[in-house]
Amino acid sequence: MALGPLPDYPWDRLVPVRERAAAHPDGAVDLTIGSPVDPTPPTIRAALAAATDAHGYPSTAGSADARRAIVDWFARRRGVPGLDLDEALVTVGSKEFVASCAFFLGLGEGDVVVQPSVAYPTYEMGALFAGADLVSADDPADWPESTRLVWLNSPGNPDGRVRDVDSLRAAVARARELGAVIVDDECYAELGWDEWADRPIPSLLDPAVVGDDRTGVLVTSSLSKRSNLAGYRAAYVAGDRALIMRLLTARKHAGLMTPAPVQHALAVALAADDEAAEQRERYRRRRELLKPALEAWGLRIDGSEAGLYLWGTTGDDCWTTLDALADLGIIAGPGEFYGDAGRRHVRVSLTALDADVERAAARLRAAASGPEGPTAASEL
Ligand SMILES: Cc1ncc(COP(=O)(O)O)c(C=O)c1O
Repeated sequence: MALGPLPDYPWDRLVPVRERAAAHPDGAVDLTIGSPVDPTPPTIRAALAAATDAHGYPSTAGSADARRAIVDWFARRRGVPGLDLDEALVTVGSKEFVASCAFFLGLGEGDVVVQPSVAYPTYEMGALFAGADLVSADDPADWPESTRLVWLNSPGNPDGRVRDVDSLRAAVARARELGAVIVDDECYAELGWDEWADRPIPSLLDPAVVGDDRTGVLVTSSLSKRSNLAGYRAAYVAGDRALIMRLLTARKHAGLMTPAPVQHALAVALAADDEAAEQRERYRRRRELLKPALEAWGLRIDGSEAGLYLWGTTGDDCWTTLDALADLGIIAGPGEFYGDAGRRHVRVSLTALDADVERAAARLRAAASGPEGPTAASEL
């Protein structure tokens, strides 16, 4: 089946909201896209610079150093010990992996890809590229018999929800019953808040979830957010050896290689836990400022236990809430972009500089106590 017309990139639909926000006398604060704004740590930049004699083609799987760093990180930070080097693979950021996975695994017409009920849009694009059907469902009981690939995303974008061990176990059990591959996109795994601030967010590859059998199970993660490396395009996949081999073979044929200097930087970045902790602290402070200010203004925050977004609703359609925020010069993202279940929510990103987050929080607090008053979340 040939690839049909592709949807327009949805962010173009935000132009009128941007124009409305730009009319604010003190300027607009953009809290839409989750692109890191803080510098890449100097040690990682030095690693990239040190590896620029890259005359030969890089390894598609990833250099031994890069894969060793991935395996060590899973053991040290994610409670997943004992991965072998051939159970890990580097990718050119995780978005291309999400988009290409269904196709490379051989899914096609009549197969179903499952994604969360509110979801990062690229899972859908991956189903479209493969010619497969898409079902949005969180409850494993709702995954149809023809499911061949299940995407989990814990912690989730946009809703910041975390699946605990029991929930992950139930998902794996159902995927195995269906004979489906299950992949958890864990790119926000080290950004837990509230009850997850002091304990690790469980990985799908945790032995408490899969026991000693990783068959059919993969995890992808990324350095874009953890280490401010979005511009490098550095991410990875780990899990079932046979699936990794299948993906590696496809990726070798397609020429999907992470550049050698980036592989070197990836290895250094994955070991740089202190720098990641510093960045996490920046986001924690921004969240502490924004969350109460949004709540005082009238947004009920749902989920958002982890990750880089506050997912909230006033009870109105998302475009109405976006206009109200734009009147304060604040630009947020429409929940509708993440599926029909999100159409009354907006997504507010924590990836803005401190001064911008402070400006946004001050405007929200002033509006909450001003004559236009808040829409009390308790009235929802
Ligand atoms: C859930 C999720 N997966 C994957 C990605 C892609 O990240 P990258 O391609 O930078 O690794 C993002 C980026 O925002 C995301 O939110």
